[in-house]
Amino acid sequence: MRAVVVERFGDPSGMVVRDVADPVPDAGRVLVRTEAIGVGGVDAVIRRGALGSFGFEPGLIPGNEVAGTVTAVGDGVDASWIGRRVWAFTGTTGGYVELATTGVEHLTVLPEGLSSIDAVTLGSSGPVAHFALSHAHFAAGESVLIRGAAGSIGIAAVELASQGGAKVVAVTTSSAQRGRRLRELGATVVLDRTGQPDDGSHSGNGSHGESDAFDVIIDIVGGEAIPTFIDRLAPNGRMVVVGVVGGMPSPDFGMALMRSFRKSLSFAAFSLDTVPVGERDIVRAAQFDAAASGGLHPVVHSVLNLDQAADAHRQMDDGTVFGRIVLTP
Ligand SMILES: NC(=O)c1ccc[n+]([C@@H]2O[C@H](COP(=O)([O-])OP(=O)(O)OC[C@H]3O[C@@H](n4cnc5c(N)ncnc54)[C@H](OP(=O)(O)O)[C@@H]3O)[C@@H](O)[C@H]2O)c1
Repeated sequence: MRAVVVERFGDPSGMVVRDVADPVPDAGRVLVRTEAIGVGGVDAVIRRGALGSFGFEPGLIPGNEVAGTVTAVGDGVDASWIGRRVWAFTGTTGGYVELATTGVEHLTVLPEGLSSIDAVTLGSSGPVAHFALSHAHFAAGESVLIRGAAGSIGIAAVELASQGGAKVVAVTTSSAQRGRRLRELGATVVLDRTGQPDDGSHSGNGSHGESDAFDVIIDIVGGEAIPTFIDRLAPNGRMVVVGVVGGMPSPDFGMALMRSFRKSLSFAAFSLDTVPVGERDIVRAAQFDAAASGGLHPVVHSVLNLDQAADAHRQMDDGTVFGRIVLTP
């Protein structure tokens, strides 16, 4: 089968397409013939070599989510899985392939009417957004800021917060055009990356007052600006960091919480890894049903061939992606 291999950490030219042996599923695992492969922000972080200290070595195959059809099962797996269309989590790596293997517990059956491309756009990011909002104890009537809203996690969070009855759904993003697209998905206030109103995309309902303080901040960006956004929390506000695409915060970022002691603020990190697999599957299946019936809108930036994986990563590095890039074998 063809697979994309990171032969050298660094820029995307270190990724090459190779013929490798077809995998055979071990006990408890299945083989999925892929139709669509999601390209995630974490794939780019791993390819750059930024996570070398976590045990990643050149020679790895990036990618962690695929959709396709189960074509074989290992010992102990019900043979009725064969022929089913599924979404599959492959682990942190292993997804940019024609034939993927994974544990049967990491499959979610695709409903009628949901494309493989939409499945890999929503499959991880939708549950991350859902559980991050619940980790923040988000409730209807509260104001929410999604920081770094132009990626697939942020887009899902905007829709879910809006549908969950948020009073204000504010976003930070880098352009007025992105702001307009986020408004179509439920954002009511558009801010620039620093958190100031983006005048270029103002539409009346995004008044300055609405964007001053927030009950909940879902942060995909992290970086040095975290204290600035902690300062934007309302009394009893909760900030949940789900990604650090802008880097780590400075070591003393927690002083912003202590300076505002009398506001009873909370700060948390959140990883989907801490949610039991079965709970993720229930939420993902419900989101897939919603997407199939038009209730959720996965945003696909572009669909490229597996051979173009390096081009996909160049777009990720350029910051030109809105939503998800999907590879097809
Ligand atoms: N917590 C979990 O369980 C979990 C699960 C999967 C992935 N993740 C993490 O989530 C992140 C990827 O999420 P994603 O794919 O939705 O994000 P993404 O597309 O990589 O980035 C989201 C947005 O952040 C903005 N941004 C990027 N770099 C920035 C910078 N340096 N400063 C300020 N803004 C910046 C960009 O929007 P604008 O240009 O419009 O500002 C970008 O579209 C990774 O960190 C990954 O590790 C977490």
